[in-house]
Amino acid sequence: MRKSIIGGNWKMNKTSKEVEELVKGLIQELGDYKEVDTVIFPPFIYLERVGSLLKGTSIALGAQNMFWEEKGAYTGEVSPLMLVDVGCRYVILGHSERRQHFGETDNWINRKIKTALRFGLTPVLCVGERLEERKSGRAEEIVSSQLKGCLSGINPSQVEKIVIAYEPVWAIGTGETATPHQAQQMHRFIRENLQEMFGESVANSVRIQYGGSVKPDNIKQLMQQQDVDGALVGGASLSAASFVKIVKYGEN
Ligand code: PGA
Repeated sequence: MRKSIIGGNWKMNKTSKEVEELVKGLIQELGDYKEVDTVIFPPFIYLERVGSLLKGTSIALGAQNMFWEEKGAYTGEVSPLMLVDVGCRYVILGHSERRQHFGETDNWINRKIKTALRFGLTPVLCVGERLEERKSGRAEEIVSSQLKGCLSGINPSQVEKIVIAYEPVWAIGTGETATPHQAQQMHRFIRENLQEMFGESVANSVRIQYGGSVKPDNIKQLMQQQDVDGALVGGASLSAASFVKIVKYGEN
């Protein structure tokens, strides 16, 4: 049985005062809510503060990215060691915005996943096709090649710890969600790929989140799909009221 996992990816939003308010609101409603694994992903600069606010609650902390080296001359980068140091347990890797605006490749993401695992962080690996790729019937081919590239050389017992987020690029921040049926089909396909690569028991234990315009009014139907084990939420995670609703509808 896979436990549902809902993540709030704040992206590049909020100032320190807004962060305090949002986190306090979340702790009030979700501080000891254990039906679903809840993770928030604030910008790097607030991780330490949010980490200290979340201590002793059941909300976990994650980062939106990281570099693959532990330390050194990499101006502007943040290392896995630093993330662990401030209390992160998760890290989003390969988000489509990183691929699109910052040139991240499957090979880079693969290196990051390996390092994250070495430091005991749970990678949330994002995969997903663009609109033109879906329109031309290549969605599955794209997702499959992202999975193969990003998970290459990782042993099955480690893959079990990874969370995968299927985020069709055309549904991110657009208000357009994949239908529950479209989501289920791709999640099934991802699981079949995992089975081919790592065997049935790994494929059955990996949690696959859906991401792309998830809102309080569409979460329930998405969560009812057999292979949808949670959601990675962007815009709707910026308000405590809507994120709390999403986390609670995500109850299995
Ligand atoms: P969205 O973003 O919910 O605003 O569409 C999802 C994501 O990019 O993780």
